Amino acid sequence: MSHLVAPSVLAADFANLQRDIELVNNSKADWFHVDIMDGMFVPNISFGFPVVKAIKKHATKPLDVHLMIVDPDRYLKQFAEAGAYSITVHYEACPHLHRTVQAIKELGCKASVAINPHTPVSLLKDIIADLDMILVMSVNPGFGGQKFIEHTYTKLAEVKELAKAANPNLLIEVDGGVDDTNYQALLSAGASVLVAGNSVFSAQDPSLAITTLKQAQV
Ligand code: DX5
Ligand code: ZN
Repeated sequence: MSHLVAPSVLAADFANLQRDIELVNNSKADWFHVDIMDGMFVPNISFGFPVVKAIKKHATKPLDVHLMIVDPDRYLKQFAEAGAYSITVHYEACPHLHRTVQAIKELGCKASVAINPHTPVSLLKDIIADLDMILVMSVNPGFGGQKFIEHTYTKLAEVKELAKAANPNLLIEVDGGVDDTNYQALLSAGASVLVAGNSVFSAQDPSLAITTLKQAQV
């Protein structure tokens, strides 16, 4: 399967959200990446249900919802009802991760777990078989436009290796600082879903930036 590209709405123009959603609808992008931040798990607040519902109303592609919030179990149902296709929770925010993952699946969503830059891939060994996707953070979560952390390549390769035996259909998403200088190497290292915020929406031609990220060959 060819890789997927998920532009991050966090970098869109919120005063022209419908315009930017249409732009993604009409581009070669596969998903909308939707970042939810609570000012507790990460030192920033992004947006909540009314905005997710507004995105859903206009989006013609699946919503890939990334929850950077403490105790995400409290809100899974509401995000599913708001239109999430996939829900990503953070390993670091879930003491009962297996239960959380089952709850996401029972809501009819794809289940995904994110790991922060300092969290070892090996900690996913006993949950990987239950997942549809693993998200490897390539910046510290909380803000768009940050510098890509090079160690991510090693971690993507480790996830790919772990998935080989345990879950060959697993999607591997990379999030943070992805642009036209590193996407090819990220795909080679094992990524199958590229999230891109700043490099898409700050580009002179965002649609062309998406096309470029889609063109990569592994
Ligand atoms: C960071 C978010 C990312 C962010 C990526 O906490 O999870 O999805 O929007 O933005 P860029 O591509 O600008 O690093
Ligand atoms: Zn994200």
